[in-house]
Amino acid sequence: MKLVTCGLPYANGKAHIGHLRTYIPADVYVRYLRLKGEDVIFVCGSDSHGTPIVVNAEQQGLKPRELVDIYHEHFQKIFRELDIEFDYYGRTDSHYHHERTREIVRRLLENGHIYPKEIELAYCPNCQRFLPDRYVEGICPYCGALARGDECDQGCGRHLEPGEILKPKCKICGTPAEFRKQRHYYFRLSAFKEFLEKYISNLRGTENALNYAMEWVRGELKDWCITRNLEWGVKFPTDEELVVYVWVDAPIGYISFTEKACEKLGKDWRDIWIDGRAEIIHFIGLDIVYHHCIFWPAMLKGAGYALPSGVVASGMVKVEGKKFSKSRGYVVWVEEDYLKADLNPDYLRYYIVNYTSHQRDLNFSWHVFRDKVNNELIATLGNFIYRVMHFAWKNFGKVKMDVDEEVTERIRRAKETIEDAISRWEFKEASDAFMELAGYGNSFFQSSKPWEVIKEDRNEAERVIASALAIVRALAVLAYPVLPRSMRAVAETVGLDIDSSTLDTALDIPEYVKVGKPEVPFERIDDEKMEELERIMMERIRDSGEEGEKMDERIGIEEFQRLDIRIGKVLKAEKVKGSKKLMRLEVDIGNEVRQIVAGIAEEYSPEELEGEPVAVLVNIKPARLMGVESNGMILAADINGKPVLLKPEKDVEPGARVR
Ligand code: MSP
Ligand code: ZN
Repeated sequence: MKLVTCGLPYANGKAHIGHLRTYIPADVYVRYLRLKGEDVIFVCGSDSHGTPIVVNAEQQGLKPRELVDIYHEHFQKIFRELDIEFDYYGRTDSHYHHERTREIVRRLLENGHIYPKEIELAYCPNCQRFLPDRYVEGICPYCGALARGDECDQGCGRHLEPGEILKPKCKICGTPAEFRKQRHYYFRLSAFKEFLEKYISNLRGTENALNYAMEWVRGELKDWCITRNLEWGVKFPTDEELVVYVWVDAPIGYISFTEKACEKLGKDWRDIWIDGRAEIIHFIGLDIVYHHCIFWPAMLKGAGYALPSGVVASGMVKVEGKKFSKSRGYVVWVEEDYLKADLNPDYLRYYIVNYTSHQRDLNFSWHVFRDKVNNELIATLGNFIYRVMHFAWKNFGKVKMDVDEEVTERIRRAKETIEDAISRWEFKEASDAFMELAGYGNSFFQSSKPWEVIKEDRNEAERVIASALAIVRALAVLAYPVLPRSMRAVAETVGLDIDSSTLDTALDIPEYVKVGKPEVPFERIDDEKMEELERIMMERIRDSGEEGEKMDERIGIEEFQRLDIRIGKVLKAEKVKGSKKLMRLEVDIGNEVRQIVAGIAEEYSPEELEGEPVAVLVNIKPARLMGVESNGMILAADINGKPVLLKPEKDVEPGARVR
């Protein structure tokens, strides 16, 4: 038996493409295991605790639980719509989870792995409270970067222990914090050094995770402060004034959610987590390797629980070649960008597993997305499948399955490559293997020309189509874990029940195959949709400002004077091809004529614009919209999202400056 888990998303914000790098490959992996006939349990859930959630809720005037409710729902919806199917999706603010956490902490206490210690902690004299984690900002003692209470997120990336941060300031009111003494509880991590070295050298998983973990464990392991001054969280068993640090209880979610899944499936969770009778495999991103390879196994060992056998860590996601950043606009939101555009979830699943090896950083950009869908999924896989099904359905309906030896051999090779790749978590290799089989199928079909052969020799044409159909059936099974929605439909058309199939079904050739009326497996992505998505992203990046830092919003006159705004005159206007909203303008701005693209085509016609004055921001960086370069920005009043152009009240010459 195997237990597969995914890093629990914080119920503190919407799902973005970075999250999916954990969930999609894990779902693909589980589907492949199940196709191999393995018994798998797949769990995840919301991480409900931690200071960011408390701070965020406070700012929105909500109780932490109310905030968690919102995002818990949100993530479940996202997973449903992307066909990511957990056996149980829990939340860490549940009663059963608190119980399991307290039980484990009690064992750690009993076994002598936890000790109390007086420490100096950041305290805000104004808010009159201790400042755990995100409540405090200051300077990283290791690298000097601006840091948060528990993490140097902009500098060296280190985990910071309470009291370590320099020049602490209260995040809520900005008052310089004082240090005050308080009693907290420490986990004796230093005592687990030898255990961890041995454990990590036997741990399976992606090399990136194992190498980092080994490096850390060979360095200094400091004892770990595991309590915080908060109301929201799991109460520390022997001191109800404190809660446990979020990274103590969050991974215990893997256990408590397994308990729930087992209740549902009629299994015993103790087999997995106490007796170690299952392989436990964690899917996470590279950012949380320390917590999974150091803190977590030490806790499990100290409490007498079974140990995970694998940690599979993905590389990080970048957007348009830049470091992922919500505040700077380098983000793709799963719901409001992807799902709202009504894009097939299989496209994104394919992109995420096929763009690069699981361990490497993955860059997302919309034009690469379009190319991968149109040139790979559609041109190679979809077209082949559709042509074969259509030919078989139209000319035969029922096909006698006399299949070419070489074709069976190709299918066998693809299947073996996939099995091997999946066992190494190389999802790109696996998906390349079924694409290669589709490519082979394409050239087989193309060179055998059944549409010509059938005119003279119907039996020979049937033999060709039988072989091609065998490839289609194999593809439906072999590609199903990556493309569950589309391949389920294909399987049905060629008489396969995907739910009772295994990888061997790919080679299992029946005497006859009945082919139903086929549908095109994948729709092309039209350029207009792509340009709209690109535009949304560009605007977000543009609107976000440099660092997304919260500053005084008022600007000085110097800043205003940096804007070069002039009155221009529209010489020429025409709609941008393929776009409803965009108009391409040639605008005389006094000393030159600029090409500017403006989103005004739904409100203004070219005739209304030509010869008219417009206000233009001249010194904005150029941008490309729908592939057309725009060198300037037309100013307009925003009336419920509709533009109304600004005009000078008297006639002025083009080039007049606006101050
Ligand atoms: N709550 C913790 C995990 C606790 S596990 C006991 C957490 N939450 S998260 O919402 O920030 O991330 C959830 C998952 O998404 C993690 O596996 C994380 O590694 C992954 N990713 C989130 N952003 C990511 C990128 N930009 N790129 C790749 N994966 C990242 O961490
Ligand atoms: Zn640092």
